[in-house]
This record gives sequence, structure tokens and C-alpha cells, in this order.
Amino acid sequence: MSPPDPHDPAIPALPTQANPHFLRALSSLAEETEVQASEDVFAQNGTKLLARGARITPGLYEQIINHRLRTPLETSLASAEGLDTAALCRVAEQALDETPLLRSFCHWSQGRVTPLGMLEHLHFSPQACTLLAVADRHSPANRPHHVRVALIAMGLANAWRYNDAHLLASMGVAGLFHDVGELYVDPALSQRGHEISTREWMAFSAHPIIGAALAREVAKLDKLTQAAILDHHERIDGFGYPRARRRAEVSVGGQILGLAEMISALVSREQPRQHLSVALKILPGEFAPDLVSLIGALCEDCPPDTPTESEESDMPDDIHRVFARIAATQEIYANWQTSNYKFSPAAESATHDVFERFIGVQKAFASTGMDSFEVIAPLLSPAELREARVEARCVLNEIFWRLTRIARELALRCMKLPEGEAQVLMQLVDALAGKICAEDSKLAA
Ligand SMILES: [Fe+2]
Ligand SMILES: [Fe+2]
Repeated sequence: MSPPDPHDPAIPALPTQANPHFLRALSSLAEETEVQASEDVFAQNGTKLLARGARITPGLYEQIINHRLRTPLETSLASAEGLDTAALCRVAEQALDETPLLRSFCHWSQGRVTPLGMLEHLHFSPQACTLLAVADRHSPANRPHHVRVALIAMGLANAWRYNDAHLLASMGVAGLFHDVGELYVDPALSQRGHEISTREWMAFSAHPIIGAALAREVAKLDKLTQAAILDHHERIDGFGYPRARRRAEVSVGGQILGLAEMISALVSREQPRQHLSVALKILPGEFAPDLVSLIGALCEDCPPDTPTESEESDMPDDIHRVFARIAATQEIYANWQTSNYKFSPAAESATHDVFERFIGVQKAFASTGMDSFEVIAPLLSPAELREARVEARCVLNEIFWRLTRIARELALRCMKLPEGEAQVLMQLVDALAGKICAEDSKLAA
């Protein structure tokens, strides 16, 4: 592993004041397993707060939270247990047993190296193991996701850049670490049903940057892995976050990890193959075409999806909701045009970018034929209807996500504008996010 590069401008230094959410997660781990200070921990004024070898206790929060430290606390922790690679392999084996589509990505070996062999032989510093342990304790339900992302990312790396052993190893590691930045985010934001505000989104969308900083300063992972973690939510069409990078600005590792993450979310759903093919078809510009084209070959031997009988009674409403968001957005643009509204250059640039993206989503939605779904549905056979419903659900999820994503991006840009102008642009945010009252009145009509 190369030494950390403290001058990489895309990845800032970790803050020296401990993050409260990280501290709570660490305290929670310390309740059940032994974690020690791997070195003396000093406040910036020279006070020794923890001696090397001192056991971390649940009372650490109060002891640390109000101090600026000489070095980030995360770099001075060592869990007694290390990395349990056998447990990782058990999670991987169970995931492989349960999800045939996942197995398609793991049919490879390079010499004696196999996907499970890669996991089995991982070795990290005590600080890196502690970081993984804190993340694991913080959200145990996410462990299978991290393992799946590691397995899928290695499979994609092997197929896309065969013989690049460095990339292959990096993808296994990046898969396990990719969301460690979420340790700095209030867990309430990830709870089901929580409607995330603009400020909360700003905090959440920084998790790849924090993750990359933790990867560099705590886990001492190499630059390839740091870049992959930093870019795992970027998309080459510029729709990603946190930096909305485009094309070659998104690292190879970031593209692989991003696609692996998307596949990981789909493999355990009902009818995963269809979900995957629709997700990649309706908005094709997110990942490099030659990376996407590998998926067909990788999934060739995977058994077909098992048909389900589940009905989706809320689908017509959701279709109407998409139309309502599109109509409300168009109306606002039309009003601005007819009233010849004059924006500042910063607001002009924001509205222009948003409009460009909005038109792309609108075109993608129109190309799916969803506008005639309700007319066509009664004419379809039960098998055709099943397939059409899965496709429609997938399209709707993707379109909702895209519109919400544009709304969040614009809301962030509004925060940098004068209040009056920001208020005007927030109408557009509300329309894209579906908060315009007209939507409800149209639904009720
Ligand atoms: Fe993830
Ligand atoms: Fe993430």
C-alpha cells in the first residue's frame, strides 16, 4: 500500500474534533468488545485525554466530544478482535447460496485466487479493523450488502480489466469500506420513512468524501481504493454525487464500485434479472457502455427469474405522480420564460443545468411508453402483465430517484444564492421533488 497523500485536494483531512455519530457508534462497539487507544490521545492544548492501551468505555463520548484533538481519534484505535475473515466468508457463502445472480459474478479465478479466497486472505491494520468493526456494529444489517458489493466489484473488475491484480484486490477492499463515511452521518437520516431535508442531504451526500478520508488516514488504503470510495456514487453522465463528476473524471474503480452497488441492491429482489436489465436500459449513460455490456455475458448462465404473483395497486398513482412532477416543472419553466424573469449568472447556470437534466429524464420516461400503461394493461396476457409491471416499477423507481436527485442538487445550489433568488428557485425544487400542491389536486381530479 502506498503512503497516505495528505495533499490530495479532493479528499480533505479528517476533522480533529471527534464526530458525535462516530463516537456514539464507537461507544456502542466498546460495550460489547474490547477497543483500546493504540497511542496516547492528546487535546490540542496538550491535555492527555487517553493513555496508550487505555480501554475505550461507553463514557468516552463526554470525555472527548468537546475537545479538538492533535490527531483524529479514529487513527488511534485498535480493537482486540481484528478482522474476522471467517465470518466475512460465511456471509459471502450465505449470500451466494441465496442469490443465483450473485453467483454469476463470482465464477472466476486468477491462478489460485478465487473471490472467497480474496476475502479469506484480507489483512488490515488494527485501526482499519476497528473502523470496519464500528461500521458493522453500527449497522449490522448492511454487512451482507458490503460483502455483496465486494464480490460483485471483483467480478466486474476481473471481466473488465482482466489480469489487473491490483484493481481486483482494490475492489474487494473498497467494497467492504465503501460506506464507512456513513459513520459520520446521523443514523436517523437512513431510517425508513424519514423525509430528508436539504441540509440533511448535504450531510449524507458527503459520506463518500469522509469514507475516502477514513480510507486514507485510518485504514491507509492506496489511492486506487480511496478514489473508488470517493467516486462510488458518481455517474459518468454527471448525475452522481458528491461532486457530479463526468466521463473520465470518474475513476475506473469508482465506476466499478458504483455499478456493483446498484447490482447489489437488485440481486436480492424478486425478478432481479429483469430489474437489472430495465435499470440499465432506461437511462443508459450512467456507466461506461463496455462495462455495462459485460453484464449480459456474466449473467448468461444465471437461471431465469421466477415469476411472482404480487400485485402493485399503487402503480397507477405513482405513474400519475411522475406526470404531475413533470407537468409542474414544465409549468414553472414556462412561467419564467413568459415573464422574462432575469436571474443572476449563478442562478441562470443552475436553472440551465437542471433543465438539461430534467429534459433527459423526461425523454427517458417518454421512451418507456408508461403514458399508455393503463390503456395497454387490460389487453395483456397474465405473463405479459407480470413482466410489464416489473418493468414499470423499475422505471418508476429510477425516474423518481432521478427527479429527486435533480431537486436535491438544485437545493444545494440555492443555498449559495441570495435569499430572494433562492426562494424563486425553490419552487422548482418543490416541483421536481413532488411537493407542489398541484400534484395532489391532479391526483384527486
Ligand atoms: Fe452502499
Ligand atoms: Fe454510499
